Amino acid sequence: MNNSHKIESLPRACLILPTYNEVENIESLIKEIFALQSNINTHRLHVIVVDDHSPDGTANIVGQQMKTFSRLHLVSGVKTGLGDAYKRGFSFALETFNPDLLLQMDADGQHEPKVIPELIKLADKDHDLIIGSRFISGGSTPNFSKWRRFLAVFGNWLVRWFGGITNVKDCTSGFRCIKANLISKCNLGVFSTKGYSFQSSLVYELLRNGGKPIEIPIIFSARTKGHSKLSFMDQVEFVFNLTKIAYRNSGEFIKYCFVGIAGAIVNISVYILLTRYFQVRIEIAPLVALEMSIMSNFILDNYWTFVERPRKLSLIKKAINFHLAAGFTGLVFYYALLLFMIKILGFNDIFSIIISIMAGAISNYLINSRYTWNKTN
Ligand code: GDD
Ligand code: MN
Repeated sequence: MNNSHKIESLPRACLILPTYNEVENIESLIKEIFALQSNINTHRLHVIVVDDHSPDGTANIVGQQMKTFSRLHLVSGVKTGLGDAYKRGFSFALETFNPDLLLQMDADGQHEPKVIPELIKLADKDHDLIIGSRFISGGSTPNFSKWRRFLAVFGNWLVRWFGGITNVKDCTSGFRCIKANLISKCNLGVFSTKGYSFQSSLVYELLRNGGKPIEIPIIFSARTKGHSKLSFMDQVEFVFNLTKIAYRNSGEFIKYCFVGIAGAIVNISVYILLTRYFQVRIEIAPLVALEMSIMSNFILDNYWTFVERPRKLSLIKKAINFHLAAGFTGLVFYYALLLFMIKILGFNDIFSIIISIMAGAISNYLINSRYTWNKTN
């Protein structure tokens, strides 16, 4: 088999290059990238330039080069930001080429093409997310101004802190290689990010979907031609995006608390109804109220709070687990504590039931999160 036939049979790696006014950089970059194919013997490289009608005519240069390079493609669109450009590029690549790998890279020369073969080499099944990192040993940002360096380091710290990402040092890097089947699991639509904060949203989403990251050092040198498009609005969006990441991260617990409050309302209403209107005894009424709230909570948690968790246990098994957890916490924290507060301490019964419900809720969350809707079931 000659070389070009061999390449045709390899799985595809699609490199997405977003461009906005990169007329001075794009031509030499594309040549350099395709020259690397000879160092890559596991994948055939496709390059997809996503250009947003750059006024400097970047797309014309790409159009000319497409005559030389059959695996060079152009996606044009309206400029709505770097993140939107990437979403379009990823969708195009996934729909058109059925790739094994997707790569992302800046088109302004700040990312060295020679790293591409290294990224691809690491894309085996143990690592489905390979990140070119400026912030691990060997990586650097030699020409960053103090301000830009502060923004990058502080921004990364915030993403890692809000997103609970402890195993990635460079969450905003734009140089990555991602297994296509990992990116296909992600719902890129849930992040409304249009600009640069797409980078941190994406890394967060990839990890949430089970991505196993590895970082290799890169030198993020200065731009020599053209200028950065990072805007003030990108930085504002970045900060708003952090709150979304934080919410998404703690989303289950927040939902669980809402369900808990709904359950508490059911519980207290049933208790008042039974004791005040039906003269049910104080030893019996809390137990009926407890069962009613357990059932309403179970239904809400199963179909709302934990709806994204794997569904390996049957509904009956989950209901039993849920009852065991609720029964245990219910008897210890709710029923015993409640009777103790009313009968021994002589507290008001409504006050006591509120305290007991709160005490039961926390231990309940811990048990259900760990057993009933276990992530790794
Ligand atoms: N299609 C398209 N649309 N491309 C864009 C847009 C856009 O709205 N905005 C920027 N680009 C392209 C640029 O042409 C360049 O190829 C690449 O995206 C990166 O843009 P720069 O403007 O050079 O970004 P930077 O150098 O300031 O930022 C770098 O570091 C950030 C973190 O510190 C990039 O790597 C970012 O991705 C990274 O988040
Ligand atoms: Mn740049």
